[in-house]
Amino acid sequence: MLDDMLDYLEHRREQPVWQPIPQEVRNAFREPLPQQPSDLATVHATFMRDILPFAVGNTHPGFMGWVHGGGTAVGMLAEMLAAGLNANLGGRDQMPIEVERQVTQWMRELFGFPAAASGLFVTGTSMANLIAVLVARTAALGTAVRQAGIATGARQLVAYTSAGAHGCIAQALDLSGLGIDALRVIPMNDHYQMDAHALEQAIAADRRAGCTPFFIAGTAGTVDVGAIDDLTALADIAARESLWFHIDGAYGALGMLAADIAPRLAGIERADSIAFDFHKWLQVPYDAGFILARDGTLHHSTFAAPAAYLRRESRGMAAGSPWPCDFGPELSRGFRALKTWFTLKVYGTTHLGRMIAGTCALAQYMQRRIERLPMLELLAPVALNIVCFRYRCDDPDRVNADIVVALQEAGIIAPSATTLNGRFAIRAALVNHRTRTQDVDALLQATLDFGAALSHDPPMRKTS
Ligand SMILES: Cc1ncc(COP(=O)(O)O)c(C=O)c1O
Repeated sequence: MLDDMLDYLEHRREQPVWQPIPQEVRNAFREPLPQQPSDLATVHATFMRDILPFAVGNTHPGFMGWVHGGGTAVGMLAEMLAAGLNANLGGRDQMPIEVERQVTQWMRELFGFPAAASGLFVTGTSMANLIAVLVARTAALGTAVRQAGIATGARQLVAYTSAGAHGCIAQALDLSGLGIDALRVIPMNDHYQMDAHALEQAIAADRRAGCTPFFIAGTAGTVDVGAIDDLTALADIAARESLWFHIDGAYGALGMLAADIAPRLAGIERADSIAFDFHKWLQVPYDAGFILARDGTLHHSTFAAPAAYLRRESRGMAAGSPWPCDFGPELSRGFRALKTWFTLKVYGTTHLGRMIAGTCALAQYMQRRIERLPMLELLAPVALNIVCFRYRCDDPDRVNADIVVALQEAGIIAPSATTLNGRFAIRAALVNHRTRTQDVDALLQATLDFGAALSHDPPMRKTS
């Protein structure tokens, strides 16, 4: 199994990025609950034949869809060790929790957070954003809200984020009981950043209307175009208005590791909480999200709950309190910290920072090439490592949507799609550390070829 997976990663470029799952494979795979044992080798053979070839393909250098990390063999091996250990990181006195605490300490160091800051591994940034909203809710309403709920509160809390924010911010408002209507969606400027002036006006209007502003969610690396909000301006507004300043840094926050990106994240050190993923730019295998909160005591008081069966001691296995389960809704938790610790230790932050910067350099290369190709149009400024563009033609929304599907089905290169200012965009997120200029060239050439074929234009000449 180990040989198969190492070979798979080594020869990934030679296989399709993605391929449609044949109906026969789906049909043959379905079976009743197995009552009798099967031979391990047979089950493994089924994995190799029916599962492995039909994954979404984010390990492939040609994968540019959504914002997915590429994983590494190092992370895979660490995951194997973690699975063998089968540690439950909800709590108790065990070294795996020290690993999580070590990574938390490194994150405090990276983001300039104080020693009292708390950190917690979670599935991903969606969960981390929800935790941030809940801690901010405690800050605004006190811990009594945990008992009484928000229905009894006289104050109507309102939150702010930009039109470019990820949908999980609205979901966090929903799940926290505050409701999606409590989220004010602030327009963006020409750089796809939250319009700071519009934010101030919205806060003032809410105060006049008797609402209680409590939370600003800035974004470091928007999902559509990779824009970074002006974090210093947002931190200033949050300080002036006494609001919680949260940053959704799902993939962009770890740009702190890259010397040329870190200055553009200035202001991140002033956040009350930061949500981000190690499974995106840091290439840690899925899943490994993280929440960092400046006020660890407040974070603790948002989740900790006494329970006889989780009794703490000063000695023995039940020592070492507080436990990770005191900082989030999950009691049973896997050892996500190990693959992250391995990744940071084995590669070191200098190398990882260069890798991150490399994906941005690739995006700049792609932008320059698009600007020189008259049949292609850039649809948004390239802030980090996401490039949004389209093929010029009549009926561009239909043709470009067809191009994206054709590219994915061809299996050579796989971008995803989004809509920017009402215009369909081909979106290439260059997150994978295996992607090279040849993959960018392949995407552009295939876009021109499919664009010509699908819009019935004459075939294009080679681009390079
Ligand atoms: C800006 C942003 N926020 C949140 C998320 C959600 O993160 P996750 O999928 O890890 O829950 C993403 C995912 O791409 C994102 O780009």
